[in-house]
Amino acid sequence: MAHRILRKRKLAPGVYEFWIEHEQISKYAKPGQFLIIRSNEKGERIPLTIVEASKNAVRVIVKCIGKSTYMMAMMNEGDEFLDVVGPLGNPSEIDYYGHVTVIGGGVGIAPLLPITRALKKAKNRITAILGAATAEQLILKDEFEETVDNLILTTDDGTFGKKGLVTERLEELIASGDKPDIIWAIGPTVMMKFVSLIAARENILCWASLNPIMVDGTGMCGACRVEVDGHMKFACVDGPEFDGRKVNWNELIKRQHQYMEEERKALEAFKK
Ligand code: FES
Repeated sequence: MAHRILRKRKLAPGVYEFWIEHEQISKYAKPGQFLIIRSNEKGERIPLTIVEASKNAVRVIVKCIGKSTYMMAMMNEGDEFLDVVGPLGNPSEIDYYGHVTVIGGGVGIAPLLPITRALKKAKNRITAILGAATAEQLILKDEFEETVDNLILTTDDGTFGKKGLVTERLEELIASGDKPDIIWAIGPTVMMKFVSLIAARENILCWASLNPIMVDGTGMCGACRVEVDGHMKFACVDGPEFDGRKVNWNELIKRQHQYMEEERKALEAFKK
């Protein structure tokens, strides 16, 4: 069944927000879950975390990184996606923990928003550390501002907030004596790895939302396998969130790089 784009908005260079008509997902989606979308018969399946759901529609945010995401970004209001499947994966473990620190990097800031809102609703005190390469890539600042108790912004080039990395801001927070009781980290794999290393050192549970390559999203193909605590897990059915302290990050990073050359070639061919 095709699903219509109700609204589309550019959030940053190469980053787009879509509201897509989908009754079932909007009814059942919980924070932390994702959907798999396919623009047309030639498009690959793209897993995207559900940012928000309301009245028959779901909100997703996509960054153009490969052929399929470019194809999606070229679609406009009124166009229809060939298929949108979800909600998939396990919801985040929302509860009262005390001081929660949510850490988002780049487009990973988007999936962090529904989790942050739910944690706030559960009466947690929340510090958000959001980081991006430049000021214009720092998305959803206002929505986080409205939600959290303490918002820390950082950019790689210093064009907004303090110059540096989210891990440096986390170290500062811990050094100030305001240690988090629990952490959520979503962003580039390398960012989640280093946040998890700090969390392990400080003995803090750190949920990381993994984004390996996915094909079917139902635990059948094995494309999304990750090693957690020495066991093989599938991010689509066992995750997407795992205790970052137990993830074999180096293996995950290696697997993600495996397809980069093919992806680059497909994108070049598409752009011609
Ligand atoms: Fe196929 Fe997870 S995407 S097993």
